[in-house]
Amino acid sequence: MNLIDHLRSRRSVRSFDSRAVPDSVLEDILAAASRAPTGGSMQLYTAIVTTDVARKEALAGIHFGVESIRSAAAVLTFCIDIHRLGRWLELAGEVPGFDNAWGLAIGYSDALVAAQSATLAAESLGLGTCFLGSTVAASPMLCGFFGLPAHVLPVATVILGYPKEDQAPASPSSRLPVATVFHRETYAEPTDAELSKAYAEHGPATFEMFARMPSNAAGIEAFGIKNLEMMYARLNYPPDLLELSGMYFLAAMTGQGFISEQQVARAKAARATMADPAVGALSMTRQLVFSLALASGALDGRLARSPSALETEVFDFVNAAEPTLYEEFTAMSVFHPGLRARLHAALGGFGAQLEQAAE
Ligand SMILES: Cc1cc2nc3c(=O)[nH]c(=O)nc-3n(C[C@H](O)[C@H](O)[C@H](O)COP(=O)(O)O)c2cc1C
Repeated sequence: MNLIDHLRSRRSVRSFDSRAVPDSVLEDILAAASRAPTGGSMQLYTAIVTTDVARKEALAGIHFGVESIRSAAAVLTFCIDIHRLGRWLELAGEVPGFDNAWGLAIGYSDALVAAQSATLAAESLGLGTCFLGSTVAASPMLCGFFGLPAHVLPVATVILGYPKEDQAPASPSSRLPVATVFHRETYAEPTDAELSKAYAEHGPATFEMFARMPSNAAGIEAFGIKNLEMMYARLNYPPDLLELSGMYFLAAMTGQGFISEQQVARAKAARATMADPAVGALSMTRQLVFSLALASGALDGRLARSPSALETEVFDFVNAAEPTLYEEFTAMSVFHPGLRARLHAALGGFGAQLEQAAE
């Protein structure tokens, strides 16, 4: 079967027979998944394979009792990992800078792309697979379970095994119309009528699919859930449970050293300034200098001022300290380390001037 036909007909599998997946098959899947595209060829992820029965049992508990983990032959936990590359750079005497939202975003992307490659590789070998979204809420517990060092964060789980014959999905599950999800050139906001039409078939079909799953039947019956809207908002993804899951994930994210309170506070304070069209309209060099000043904290105490007045102040200050820097930046690349070092030195003076003014 070619890949397009496979993608059209594949289904998630949540119930597996007792056949073990041979190590050679597992190794093939992992080797294929490791070929996934990866930002900067950095592979900012690590996946941990669990096949041990007792550890799978423990994992089922950590994932809030997900039954399918128990019958899966293997559980693959995909983690963002900026630790490994950071260590390697440090061995070479370099200073890594991935411990921020950028590292989180690229590592998250890397982990998910690799996870999807693993599912396709496994499915191509006759195995069934399913993602587990419970990974997000379970991430603080998973950090302890796997002994993850700082800067490693679990974000996705794929379970796999040979599908139980009688559980083999009969037909592909429903999706929204392609044009609802894939827009051309600009965001296409649907009217209320178009939105309702887009969900007209998908809603009932998906509700029926979930209603057939034994894990959902009791809740649907007990709480009088009648359609997908009710199921999403009241049963599976109610606001208070999502708030809680988000808090768990945030706890793991901050605990593992990805996002610091200072970074969040600075980003929040600077958000309006960053989004101001006056800043977006600056020349590339002036925008870069201003943005670096924002990120470095040199402007922390002055963000109440208008972005264009603030930018002019930064421009004048840097120009006085480093008269040729703007031209040099324009002529050379923003990646020129020497130029950025001189800029940071100048910006340090700007911050110090600010502190003096405040005293
Ligand atoms: C990010 C993500 C999280 C998911 N989490 C779960 C989960 O926790 N439990 C589960 O049974 N299925 C989970 N799934 C599988 C979806 O329910 C499934 O892909 C969807 O219903 C469409 O069905 P299909 O994959 O059979 O086409 C998840 C899928 C993704 C991509």
